[in-house]
Amino acid sequence: MRKAIVAGNWKMNKTLDEAIALARSLRDLLDAVHHVDMVVCPPYPTLSGVSEILKGSPIGVGAQNMHWESQGAYTGEVSAKMLLTAGCQYVILGHSERRLHFGETDDGVRKKVVAALKSGLVPIICVGERLDEREAGRTEQVVAKQLRGAVGGLSAEELLRGIIAYEPVWAIGTGRAATPEMANEVHTFLRRLLRELHGEGVASAVRIQYGGSVTEENAASLLRQSDIDGALVGGASLKAESFAAIVRAGSEHTGG
Ligand code: PGA
Repeated sequence: MRKAIVAGNWKMNKTLDEAIALARSLRDLLDAVHHVDMVVCPPYPTLSGVSEILKGSPIGVGAQNMHWESQGAYTGEVSAKMLLTAGCQYVILGHSERRLHFGETDDGVRKKVVAALKSGLVPIICVGERLDEREAGRTEQVVAKQLRGAVGGLSAEELLRGIIAYEPVWAIGTGRAATPEMANEVHTFLRRLLRELHGEGVASAVRIQYGGSVTEENAASLLRQSDIDGALVGGASLKAESFAAIVRAGSEHTGG
């Protein structure tokens, strides 16, 4: 059975003091929660501080992006090694906000996924269709292209170390989550694609998170779906109580 994984994407929110306060609250609230992997992804300048607070707790730390090169003249970028030394175990890659506002391409995402895996970071690889693409009936085509683009060429062993996040762009930050059935349909499709790429062993083991307006109210019904193995949470991860409630829903997940 796949263990659920709930990650909080703090995006461009929280100063260092605020981030540390939130991490402390989460550590206290989630210390005794089991059977679920939990991760927070704060902004770069707060990673070391948050990692320090969460050391020895069950909560992992991730970044929201990274560069594929290991060092050099890339103003404004950070490397996998920098993230590792700041205490990260995970990194979100290919988030739709990066694709939309910062010109990230499938090929760039693939290079980052390869670099993350090589360094020992667990990539959380995001795919998802825009509203116009869904309305045009192109959802499967769009997410298939993104997934193939991001993981094409990886070995089965590498793919097994990654996590996929299905995040329909129209559901992010809108308060309009996909219905559990609608989300599960895409998750099942993505799993079928993984099966085609790497066989049953990989397809049945890789975890696929859902993201897009996940709240403490809708988390349980989403996480009950057969192919939904966790959540990538934006807005609701900024408040300790609501993120903790979503994590608890994850700990009761019985799917997969
Ligand atoms: P949201 O964001 O939960 O605020 O919709 C999710 C995400 O972008 O990862």
